[in-house]
Amino acid sequence: MDDTGRLSRRQFAKAAVAIGGASALSACLSRSDSPDVPAGPEDLSSVPARQHAWSDALATDDHGNDRPPRHHVLLLLDYAGDGQPTDADRETAASAFESLERAYARRHDGLLFTVGYSPSYFERFDADLPESVDLPEPGPLAPFEDPEPDTRDAAVHLASDHPSVVLAAEEALVGEASSANGVEMAADLSGVFDRGDRRTGFVGDGLPADNQDVRGVPDSEPVPEDSPLYMGFKSGFEKSQASEDRVTIESGPFAGGTTMHASRIRLQLQQWYEQDSRDQRVGKMFCPVHAEEGLVEGPGDNLGTSAGMDERGCPAHATDHAREKGMVGHSQKSARAREDGDPIILRRDFDSTDDDEAGLHFVSLHRSIADFVDTREAMNGTDIADESAVGQKNNNGILQYMEVLRRGNYLVPPRQLRALPPARPA
Ligand code: HEM
Repeated sequence: MDDTGRLSRRQFAKAAVAIGGASALSACLSRSDSPDVPAGPEDLSSVPARQHAWSDALATDDHGNDRPPRHHVLLLLDYAGDGQPTDADRETAASAFESLERAYARRHDGLLFTVGYSPSYFERFDADLPESVDLPEPGPLAPFEDPEPDTRDAAVHLASDHPSVVLAAEEALVGEASSANGVEMAADLSGVFDRGDRRTGFVGDGLPADNQDVRGVPDSEPVPEDSPLYMGFKSGFEKSQASEDRVTIESGPFAGGTTMHASRIRLQLQQWYEQDSRDQRVGKMFCPVHAEEGLVEGPGDNLGTSAGMDERGCPAHATDHAREKGMVGHSQKSARAREDGDPIILRRDFDSTDDDEAGLHFVSLHRSIADFVDTREAMNGTDIADESAVGQKNNNGILQYMEVLRRGNYLVPPRQLRALPPARPA
């Protein structure tokens, strides 16, 4: 806020997404400049078969790393009908999604979205999912956590650099508005899905600093103005992200799809900012070597396209560092899950002020949920805690500052199957 107590434009834009609804949208449009967003194509044949093919539509930073869209909404929905979906509902849902594609150019400053379905959704079918799809029920993934499983049928992830675009797309999709970006909606989801949870957030330079007036962040306003995430560092370097090919299901009827995990994480950054030193933060986020050698400037833009894990043998020395330096880094531990040197999960996470607390919606894509589980196991570092003086959470990466409240798993089918897919498509 400025000294008159007014919200800055950026703060307001973000708060509008968190609030949602028609009044937030109109306030957002009248307050910030209404963005001039191009419509999508009338003929949708050029839209990629993979819903999760976002990389070509993203902006890049000065080094060429993909830059995520700045504003996000995750809508969790339940199928409104009884039992198996009807063909009429499938057609309505397909038409609603296509209307959104016609309304907005498919790019970061237009609209990007995916639609995924949970294990609970697929239970309604007589047949199981094919073996080529690994989609277990969500459950705890660490000995010290007890998350609520998310069991809503579907998850729609909407993302755009413009807050008004995610809001308007949501309004049109759920049937609260009959057009989006001036383009008439041929259908909406209102009769097909019941609305469940609504999760929101943001990622990008300045947004966490503008939104630090929440529980979990100390009152001293410690979040750096140039950080894209609450914890003060940049993430998603090109070399630490799986490629879209690596996370794509290769065979069976859902080939071209992917699996998605979405967890809700509460952040508690009192100690992080008020007791830990900058070196401790760098050591715990990246690797103790990065702190000793002063490798990270500010949020870490200077690192280029690589967080410099393998280059310094950080993952291989995770347990040695825990024993000798009394601390192990989050990135260093997580990078132990790489396969032939390459990461196996593609992170599309964003910060959140939902429930007025600092949080992070950890959305990630992988060929199988097992790839996520393996990565999370590497991040837990339970093996390291067993063999050194670091605790299960204490000095063990960033585990001490986060708590996983909810977990959900989803299949994100290829685009042609995104409207209420059967478990065994022909
Ligand atoms: C509060 C939540 C989190 C924050 C702020 C965070 C932040 C970061 C940062 C700054 C990096 C280093 C930069 C980079 O290479 O991208 C990183 C790396 C990474 N994180 Fe996280 N992270 C969080 C949670 C998670 C979770 C829940 C997972 C899931 C297992 C995860 C998996 C990874 C992986 C796989 C890497 C890259 C390792 C490699 O280079 O192979 N992170 N994270």
